[in-house]
Order: sequence, then C-alpha cells, then structure tokens
Amino acid sequence: MKPRAISGAGLGFRRELIPDLKRGVPADIDFFEIAPENWLGIGGASAKDLRAFTERHPFACHGLSLSLGGPAPLDEALLRRIRGFMREHGMTLYTEHLSWCGDDGQLYDLLPIPFTEEAVRWTAERVRRAQDLLGMRIGLENASYYVAPPGAEMNEIEFIRAVIEEADCLLHLDVNNIYVNSINHGFDPSAFLRELPLARTCYLHVAGHYVEADGLVVDTHGAPVIDPVWALLEEAYALCGPLPTCLERDFNIPALDTLATEVGVIADIQRRVAGTDFLQAAS
Ligand SMILES: [Fe+2]
Repeated sequence: MKPRAISGAGLGFRRELIPDLKRGVPADIDFFEIAPENWLGIGGASAKDLRAFTERHPFACHGLSLSLGGPAPLDEALLRRIRGFMREHGMTLYTEHLSWCGDDGQLYDLLPIPFTEEAVRWTAERVRRAQDLLGMRIGLENASYYVAPPGAEMNEIEFIRAVIEEADCLLHLDVNNIYVNSINHGFDPSAFLRELPLARTCYLHVAGHYVEADGLVVDTHGAPVIDPVWALLEEAYALCGPLPTCLERDFNIPALDTLATEVGVIADIQRRVAGTDFLQAAS
C-alpha cells in the first residue's frame, strides 16, 4: 500500500470499536494507532476489517513487546514481520517503549531500564539494529515507572537523552507518563519536559490514569485525561509544535462518541497553537 504520513489527532485502533467505526469515523480522528503484536498474522474478517480501514486512514504503529532494554536477544523475526505489516498497510511511523518487558516477554508488563552507562550502550545498540531492520528511524517513548531502578548512574532525563543520541533515533513523548512520574517521584513536570531532546520528537501520547488511596498515580489508560495533563500537552506543543498525538484508552473504554470528544480536545489544542512560533528546544 502507498506509504501515508500521520498528522493531527488519533485514537488507538481496537477490535471492539470496529462496529461503531464502520458506521462512520468521527471527523476529529485524523489517524489511528495500532499495536502490531495484536494484529500480525490475523486472517478472515479481522484482516478484511483492518485492510478496509488502513486503505482509508493513516495508521501509526506502536509496538508493545520488543523489550528494547531487556536482556533477551532482540526479536529480529518480530521486527521483520512488523516491517512487512507496515509496508502492507502503508504505515510510516513505528515507536516502542524505552523499557523492557521481562524474559518471558509478557505483554503490558513494562519495566524501567536501569539508568546506567552500560544500559545506554546496550539499549542504543538494539535500537540501531531495530532501525536497520525496519529501514527507518523509530521513536522511543518515555516510560512511567513506580520504583526507581536500582544502581542509577544518571537521572532519567540524562538516560533518555543518552539513548536517543547514541541510537540516533526519535522521541515519542508521552505527556501523561511525565505527569504520572512527576507525582510519584516528586518532580516538576514542566522542567522535566523542557530538558528532554524535544527537537527529536516525532509523536505524542496523552492518556488518563488512576489515583490509588495512598496517592500513587497509576498509568492505567482507563480514565479521561485530566486538566494538568492537557496543560502539559499544550506546553509540549508550544515547544515542539502540534505534532501527531494519539489518545490512549485501554480500559473502561467508553462509547466512540465520548472517545471522539476527547480526541477533539487534542485537535482543539493543536489548532490553538498552530501558526505560533515554536521554541524548538535544542536537543
Ligand atoms: Fe504512551
């Protein structure tokens, strides 16, 4: 399929939304995001459905299980399958988490990488290999974490900057993850944002989260986005421009109309900042 770039505001593509999406894609949804691991090798009606949507709408590819910082050998067979999947559906952007998911490869169990020089070299080399296999630069997403990894030789910002520079890859900026970490680890989210290599940003995520009784904020993607996170998104746009941004919603999924309204907020903020000068913070 002809390659298609994404822009504007997007929504995660989920099987349970397909019946409603078939009745019409809301106007504020400019693109969809898809987790390749959930769709590789599918056939039948699901494959037809996906094809029908990728023919009409741009899609971003957001991986779940590559475990770029993990100890297990890089899954090159998976990367080759992802390359084929992206070509088949005209996808031009691939991002993954700057984290790892354990030796058993369990999905969604994303763990922080120790902030060490050795981990920078290890992860950056794997990112470079992934980029070679995919034939494109990929975006690395800043992670949320609840217990700081032991043995740190640098802080999280230094770690992110070092990996991205050494791998010569792009930044996938998740503003909710910054907010969640800022509450759990007690730092200023705006200051953190400004220290990131924002000139390398290719893509953004925004999401809701859950606050436990003891105040711990958990990155559930199961609630509406809160105002401080919207404000952080607007701040990010002021620095790097209104780049394509996806609303993540993985649990307590509301009706499509409700999701579209939230995607519309992304679009509203993008329109508000469009035409202004962006700081383009130096990386
Ligand atoms: Fe995210």
